Order: sequence, then C-alpha cells, then structure tokens
Amino acid sequence: MPAHDVLILGAGLAGQRAALAAAQEGANVAVMSKVHPVRSHSVAAAGGINAAIDPSDDWRSHAYDTVKGSDYLGDQDAIEVMCSEAPAEVMHLEHIGVTFHRNERGELDLRAFGGASMNRTAYVADITGQAILHVLYEQLLKHGKQVDRYEEWFVTDLVRDDAGCCCGAIARDVRTGRVEAFTAKNVILACGGAGQVYHPTTNGLIVTGDGIALAYRLGAPLMDMEMVQYHPTTLVENGLLITEGARGEGAILLNSDGERFMERYAPNKRELASRDVVSRAEQTEILEGRGVGPSKDGIYLDITQVPRKRILEALREIVNVGRDFAGVDITTEPIMIRPGQHYIMGGVKTDIHGATPIEGLYAAGEVACVSVHGGNRLGANSLLDTLIFGRRAGVHAAKRAAAMPMPSVAHSHVLDQEAMISAILARPAGAGRRISEIKAELGETMNKHVAVYRDEDGLSTALQTVKRLREEAKTAHIDDRGTVFNQDVLGAIELSYMLDCAEATVVGALERKESRGAQFRTDYPDRNDEEWIKHIELTISDDGPDVSYSDVTVTQWQPEVRTY
Ligand code: FUM
Repeated sequence: MPAHDVLILGAGLAGQRAALAAAQEGANVAVMSKVHPVRSHSVAAAGGINAAIDPSDDWRSHAYDTVKGSDYLGDQDAIEVMCSEAPAEVMHLEHIGVTFHRNERGELDLRAFGGASMNRTAYVADITGQAILHVLYEQLLKHGKQVDRYEEWFVTDLVRDDAGCCCGAIARDVRTGRVEAFTAKNVILACGGAGQVYHPTTNGLIVTGDGIALAYRLGAPLMDMEMVQYHPTTLVENGLLITEGARGEGAILLNSDGERFMERYAPNKRELASRDVVSRAEQTEILEGRGVGPSKDGIYLDITQVPRKRILEALREIVNVGRDFAGVDITTEPIMIRPGQHYIMGGVKTDIHGATPIEGLYAAGEVACVSVHGGNRLGANSLLDTLIFGRRAGVHAAKRAAAMPMPSVAHSHVLDQEAMISAILARPAGAGRRISEIKAELGETMNKHVAVYRDEDGLSTALQTVKRLREEAKTAHIDDRGTVFNQDVLGAIELSYMLDCAEATVVGALERKESRGAQFRTDYPDRNDEEWIKHIELTISDDGPDVSYSDVTVTQWQPEVRTY
C-alpha cells in the first residue's frame, strides 16, 4: 500500500506549491490529481496575481483593500499573512522562471485590478495561471525523487484513524478502474472549488467540489459557503471569462442607452469597484430594462478604448475568446457580457497554516476557507491565496509528519469503496434520469435562485430542488459499465459531491439574513454589523448541515461603510 508523509489531493497551484514546500522540508510527498496536473483549473486564471511590489506600495494597503473587499468578513490575521508574504512569493516565482510582463524600465509591470487602491497586479498577458502552473510543474519534475505523482486518480473517500486523525485516502485509478488505499500522515486538500454547481460558470468541468464534499463527509466544518462570487464579465453565450484585466487596461461598461452606468454606482472606482459591486450594478441595469442584446440580458464591455497594440500584447487570450466564441473582434467592437459564477469564497475551514479542525487534514486554495476573501474576493488575490497557503500547508504538514509514525488504513475501506462503485455500475439501464440532466437542473436552479440577488422564497425553492435532485442522483442512469476511463462512474460520484456543496451554499444563504459582499438578500437589503460579523459554519448531520457560528478575526481594521 503506498504510504506518504504528505499526500496532496489536487495538482493546481495550491497543490504543486504545497508539494514543493513539503519536499523542501524533507518530507516524502505525493500529489494525486484526477486530471494531468497542467490541466488543473488554475490554468484558466487569467489576469494576474496581487503583491505590494511597487516601492510606493505597502502590504498594509493591500491588506486594507482586501479587508474592505471582503466586506469585513475576512479574517484579518490571515489577510495580513497573505499580503505581507505576497511580494517574496511573486519574486520567487519570477526567479524560478515565470515570465511576468515588464515595463520599459525592465521592472515587473503592475496592472490595475478591481478594488485595489493602486496598480499591484503582476501578470503574464492574460494567461497568468497557465504560466505559473507550467513553471511549478517543471519544478515538480525537477524534485521527482521526493515527489511521487499519481496522475488521473480519482479520490472517493478520506479515512480517519481511531484517534480521529485523517490518515489517508481511497482512490480509483481512472485508467484501469482499480481502487487503492493511500496511507498518509497528512492529507492536503488542494482540489479547487465547486463552480460546476452552477450553470453557466467560468469554471472547468473538473471543478465539482470534490475536496469540499470529502472533508465535509469526514466531519470537517465548511465555512462561509453562502459567499459565491459572480464575475462581472462573462460571455453571454456560454459563461466564458473575459478577464478583469480588460477593465484594468481601460475597458468600460455600457448599457442600452450607451451610458457608462458605473459612474452612478461607484463614482470613484467605476468599472474597477469590487466584483460584487460591479456585478450587482450590471444585474440592476438588466433587471431595469437597460440590458443589451436580443434578450436584453447583456451589458456591453467596450475594450476599443485600449490601444490595439496593447490589447494584442496584454489581452491576447480574450481576443481569441471573443473571436471564437462570440464572433466579435474586441479590438474594434464592444462585446456582450454579464455577471457569471466564477469563484466560491467559502470552503473547508482552516487556520493560517492550512490546518483544518481534523488533525492531519489540511486544505489550501479555493477548496479552503482560511478566510482571506470573506464576503467578496478581490480579483488577482486567488492565485496569491493558492500559493501562500499552499506553501504554508506544505511546510506545516511536513513538520507534523516528521514527528509521527506512519499510520495504517484498513483494507475494509477499499472494499467499501469498491462496493459503492459496484452499486453505481449495477444501476438498471434507463431506470433513472441522466446525470447530465440532473446536473443541468442543479446548475440552472442555483443560477436562478442563489445568484447576485437572493431572497427567502427563491432560496427555499432552491433547497427543495437540491433535496429532490439528491434523491434522483441515487438512481441516475449510466451507460458505461466498463473499467477504463469510465466517466459515467466519475460523473455519478462528482454529482454527489456537487449536491453536498449546493446544499451547504443554499443553507448558508438562507441562514445569513443580511446583505454583505456577494450575498445580497433583497428581503434583508442592509449590511447588519451588529448581528452578522460572524462566519457561518456547517457540519454534516443525518438531517443536513448543522449550523454554528464563529468569530471574525479583526486585527486593525474596524468595519466602515463600503463605497468605491
Ligand atoms: O478576471 C480575471 O482575470 C480573474 C482573475 C481572478 O479571478 O482572480
């Protein structure tokens, strides 16, 4: 049975950074991923990574912007860690080969991004995640002796020992269907968010909430799950991301009257207000009949303000996206966008070392809630979050491993998972709905009722729907009964993960009876600092998520009225 000091589930930026850090601490490390590492969703991160690198900047200013962006729900100790460690992390990336854009003076160029009080986003055109991911993967290969890679293995369960500590995982080899136990002194979840709970979403098909559901089922609390980010600029046609970098470079938003409406909603920052503010403004324009397009459900993003040379150099990916997916040349005409699901601020509760309340279980990146984003994440803080807390989790887990013996995982766990998969394979043909139908209904329900604007009625409808879909998912029809690359089996298990995440999101949104950050309740339109500067935690029970609360850590920034 494979045994490791540190087993990392997920091979995007958080996972690879954790692996490198743990290996440098001398641990015996393994990275497991359901896809090849360079296909991890980090590859889609576009606009950049924030760090107070400019000599006139200060990490405290970055931290303040992040606290304000979070609508005062972020934990300020964690935000201080992230922002103060950011410059060294970005310089480290530069030194290992990430080709960040440079200005005429040869210094790292920094572009404007939403909610930031100055330019502090380092970038590689609009493929920053891809650039970093490939460089980290090279490093991982370089450390091949200390880091084993299990590529295309799908995790179906986490295991606890008699003392309640996490001691490994059970996974299925996607290529052969073989189920195996992986013993580990520590497991780090780094498997991303749950964007596929929504339709449309900017997230890749692999982003199905696996790590969140696995931790939840093991007994770990989920935190702030109601906080779901809608990115202001996603393609009306299919939800693809048009990077915030476009607005950072000078693009503007126009309604059907040709009005630059952000001047009314955020007179100082306009298009570069925080994402929750811009998405709400766009949605309001659409709801009040000033949307564009045949269904009047879009907004124009006009990038033609930006010089063509600069677009081709700094925004080249969205030139391709506009041309290939919307038939628009963004250098000469506006493109139709609208708010679309992009990110979840909530996740598995961790401390600043990535440790969850379950000994031996860590989480970092979008799967985790540390919580640096609170009610709303600032653009370009997610790559930073993955790297800072991936590294910290790797170091902490490696140190913990050095002081303990290797645990063991009973073979009965493998038999349980084989039985679970056999039951899926034994479902009678044609008996239930298709997985794709259930998933589509889930995504559309969430996008209708748990979106930019929410209320009690819509959220209750969503909860009832999720509960019904959960029942239907138990008998969902599958076509493939083979062992090789059986995507039906994976799809059935992923659907169960997504339904856990959806339920937690809706329960959290029903619970928070106020408007803060990404959660805007039309029936509770005000922010209520008296009662709601607190995290909502959800723990699994037979009757669904059990709700409890925990304090928000405030170090130096008291809540203020939030305007941009
Ligand atoms: O718009 C973007 O480039 C996305 C960046 C992010 O979510 O951090």
